[in-house]
Amino acid sequence: MDTSALLAELHAAKPLIAPSLLACDFAHLGRDVAAVQKAGARLLHLDIMDGHFVPNLSFGLPIVEAVRGVTDLALDAHLMITEPARYVERFREAGADMITFHAETVADPVPLLRRIRDLGALAGISINPPTPVSVLEPCAGECDLVLVMSVMPGFGGQKFQPEVLDKVRWLAENFPPDLLLSVDGGLNGETIAPCAAAGTNLFVVGTGLFRYPDYRGRLAELREVAESARGAPG
Ligand code: DX5
Ligand code: ZN
Repeated sequence: MDTSALLAELHAAKPLIAPSLLACDFAHLGRDVAAVQKAGARLLHLDIMDGHFVPNLSFGLPIVEAVRGVTDLALDAHLMITEPARYVERFREAGADMITFHAETVADPVPLLRRIRDLGALAGISINPPTPVSVLEPCAGECDLVLVMSVMPGFGGQKFQPEVLDKVRWLAENFPPDLLLSVDGGLNGETIAPCAAAGTNLFVVGTGLFRYPDYRGRLAELREVAESARGAPG
């Protein structure tokens, strides 16, 4: 699928809940991917950690490739690595449809966003909680997705930091409306509501999904929270 068709498909399915595979059972990766797909997920969030940009290691290219082999869902690779420019081609080849890197890791994000788009993937950029949203100003119109971290990246299961919602509100007001505006970290049935009210349309959920036995019911419940909070004062 080309990127404009993928983007249109994702926008049509908003609000989107992206299961973060970091919280799945890696001994049964294929089973869990199939289960969340069957439960109605439209995309998957894959957390790539290098032990430098974040104080943890997760998985890399072989796992992206393995997931690609068992699903046709869109795959969003969230690169928490210090040198994203060295790897974007390889993540695309491994099957990532969306590639998101951190603004903190590059001097000028625009050339790398353009390179990702040239590879035929959706281009995303992320900022950690202490990073001001102003660093993203040059990226308006140059990216398909902005990922606002609501925890310091590196680990699942952390507590949501509501202060980051000012950044979401600013992006919702100042970036083009066809932006996938995403929040990642500590999302659950309570914290999704203020995110949606601030303008978030893509919610990354790890432990807030995989900890629940009924994925279909839980995805529907989280989507419902996002839908009813959208446009509410927040
Ligand atoms: C954190 C990762 C997240 C993580 C979210 O470093 O970027 O995607 O999996 O996990 P939860 O939803 O458990 O906070
Ligand atoms: Zn992530």
